[in-house]
Amino acid sequence: MSQKLYIETLGCAMNMRDSEHMIAELTQKEGYALTTELSEADLILINTCSVREKPVQKLFSEIGVFKKRKKEGAKIGVCGCTASHLGEEIIKRAPVVDFVLGARNVSKISQVLHKKGAVEIDIDYDESQYAFSEFRSSPYKAMVNISIGCDKQCSFCIVPATRGKEVSIPSDLIVQEARKAAQSGAKEIFLLGQNVNNYQHEGKDFSDLLNLVSEIDKVERIRFTSPHPLHMNDHFLEVFASNPKICKSMHMPLQSGSTRILKEMKRGYTKEWFLNRATKLREMVPGVHISTDIIVAFPGESERDFEETMDVLEKVRFEQLFSFKYSPRPLTKAAEFDNQIDPQIASERLSRLQKRHEAILDEITDAQQGKIFEVYFEELRANGGVAGRSDNGFLVQVEGSEELLGSTQKVKITYPRRTTLYGEVVS
Ligand code: 5AD
Ligand code: SF4
Repeated sequence: MSQKLYIETLGCAMNMRDSEHMIAELTQKEGYALTTELSEADLILINTCSVREKPVQKLFSEIGVFKKRKKEGAKIGVCGCTASHLGEEIIKRAPVVDFVLGARNVSKISQVLHKKGAVEIDIDYDESQYAFSEFRSSPYKAMVNISIGCDKQCSFCIVPATRGKEVSIPSDLIVQEARKAAQSGAKEIFLLGQNVNNYQHEGKDFSDLLNLVSEIDKVERIRFTSPHPLHMNDHFLEVFASNPKICKSMHMPLQSGSTRILKEMKRGYTKEWFLNRATKLREMVPGVHISTDIIVAFPGESERDFEETMDVLEKVRFEQLFSFKYSPRPLTKAAEFDNQIDPQIASERLSRLQKRHEAILDEITDAQQGKIFEVYFEELRANGGVAGRSDNGFLVQVEGSEELLGSTQKVKITYPRRTTLYGEVVS
């Protein structure tokens, strides 16, 4: 009987893809089979995130749970971004952990597995061209890495310290992987990188790459994350607007609406640039879905700075908001700033931002009543029904079953709710 692997993934899409890579290596080279039962696992992996303090705390509480519930002799491995930045300290704090594998060392999973106490966290390690085995958690869509690491120096962000220097993957490897995925039935390709629209390889930029992937037979939809507002030049917006295979949802991580704070954050753009790009995008792409990330209470953020963020919210009316209280991170510039904000003010600003966004979102949601979207179905819901994404990124659910999975249908929205638009198939 094969050994069993249990894996928990925290954090972003990049981490989800890294987990798929580790699953692929372990199932195809080491004879493991996946399980969702912790107590029957022979190997327990936790793929960690360190972008805020909370997920780091979660790691140690999870290790405690694993220790109690794991079967005799089962190994525990800590992977991902927290592995990169805490390294052997993890084993010191939690001796039950057998090995530590950094976010940029995923391809070494088979090696560390057989080395008790191994710590592989080299952030200069280049595995951008490593030929991973194949594993995809969804048959309908495929995540494809286009670059690894990040060269931006945003003063709040730990990622450059956990994922290292930015390296773009050669476009022919990307196209090859996307083609293979599409041939096996994944009609949607999700391009991944910390900074996708900074892609540069042998004279090709991100817009060129989008066009190349869109030429692949059987690829019907292309999504990507995360783009940076600084690199949203006119050409990129034109390719985004005009290529029919590119889904019309754009992530535009604002972080702050105050030009002064943006400068402290080292984001490289101003409030005006961001508003200009968002306005242009709305003009060029009717119905475009814009999501964003906002950090409140960055060190030194005044009431006026925060009002600037609220002003951008009013003007752009984001379809989706991910909002966070600033969390000081080790190995970052901003953690050393001496003007940290009182936690109570931070909570109050976060709640004001979220409340206002919920009201905006209610208006956006109501306005979807009666609209018709092209929906690519990919998921059976626990409450019955089948769900998928509209071309512009809304989660849409209809009554139905497996036969809809993997198909694209026209759906009329009959009952729009904040998180899900319910509707009926009309095609
Ligand atoms: N504190 C709070 N939020 C952060 N993010 C990144 N670093 C921090 C931090 N130190 C947020 C940013 C980023 C998202 C992935 O996480 O908004 O876009
Ligand atoms: Fe992803 Fe950043 Fe979290 Fe690493 S720290 S898992 S790159 S969100």
